[in-house]
Amino acid sequence: MNVIELLGLPALEDQLRLVEPLLLESVVTGDDFLDEVTTHLIAAGGKRLRPVLALATATGGTDRATREELLGAVAVELVHLASLYHDDVMDEATIRRNVESVNARFGNLVAIVAGDFLLARSAEIAAGLGTEIAALLAATLGELCQGQVAEVHAAFQVTRSVESYTQAISGKTASLMATSCRIGAITGGLPRPQVEALTTFGRCFGMIFQVRDDILDVVGSDAELGKPAGQDLAEGIYTLPVLLALSDPDAGPELRPLLGQPLSQPERDKARSIVESSGAIAGSVTVGRSYAEEAAAAAGACPTPELASAFGRLAHSLLDGLPVG
Ligand code: IPE
Ligand code: IPE
Ligand code: MG
Ligand code: MG
Repeated sequence: MNVIELLGLPALEDQLRLVEPLLLESVVTGDDFLDEVTTHLIAAGGKRLRPVLALATATGGTDRATREELLGAVAVELVHLASLYHDDVMDEATIRRNVESVNARFGNLVAIVAGDFLLARSAEIAAGLGTEIAALLAATLGELCQGQVAEVHAAFQVTRSVESYTQAISGKTASLMATSCRIGAITGGLPRPQVEALTTFGRCFGMIFQVRDDILDVVGSDAELGKPAGQDLAEGIYTLPVLLALSDPDAGPELRPLLGQPLSQPERDKARSIVESSGAIAGSVTVGRSYAEEAAAAAGACPTPELASAFGRLAHSLLDGLPVG
């Protein structure tokens, strides 16, 4: 997924290039080991989706970005990076951004403290951007942790509700996407009604993004995902497609006895194929589409018609190409 291409706003490419040195500069201390750990995933790549949202919102994808706008983009990517360091410890992941995950490479203890270090650097940048942004990022981090804890708390629960799922992904993923747009809108000096609408866009976009990620865990391949497929199922994280399959009169009775405990590889494959061949993927895409409608409507408040249509297109295109039959 190339977000800038999907947006059709090539000027963002230049702005994003300016983010990279600032991102590196923000974490490097001169301590060789710490620097190796904190730059590990920055060097590995990633889509820089949250900086793209912040910059597109701030500049409309047209003008040059100010230093403040660029630092807002750095701050949200740092929170995202830290959340990946911590998430990979929680999920016992071994691969991230197609390279060894930080926990796998350096151990859990280092991954946790290095994640904290990234959060500290983000907080420092946010403090320089003013009280509103500092408070916003702190609140977002709280929501992100709440979502992650809710997810862990619901692990292996076959009775998990769709509402529990929705709340968890709203916290762990959508809150930072919303804040990325909001920080962009604030640093870009947009009027308050636009700040609010673009925050709504970011939140809905985040919901679509996580629903898509959860669908791909069922229908994608290891190679496509850059991480092992079926990981959520194996870890007892029952996401929207799994919950919809569980409530399906045909798939549910076949799937339920497999779940509630860790899965062997053949059981994982069987569970994936039950979910995949039920109507649960199409059902999940339908849920995603309703967020896309809401996102596109909110994007209508963008400062330029180009950005409004680019954001609307982006929200819908995330769900394109997913198997719905
Ligand atoms: C991964 O986010 C975590 C989720 C919210 C699913 P991204 O898919 O944006 O990760 P990178 O930054 O491109 O690696
Ligand atoms: C994403 O959660 C991590 C955060 C948003 C904090 P997941 O555990 O679903 O994401 P991946 O699959 O590891 O990227
Ligand atoms: Mg994970
Ligand atoms: Mg996780």
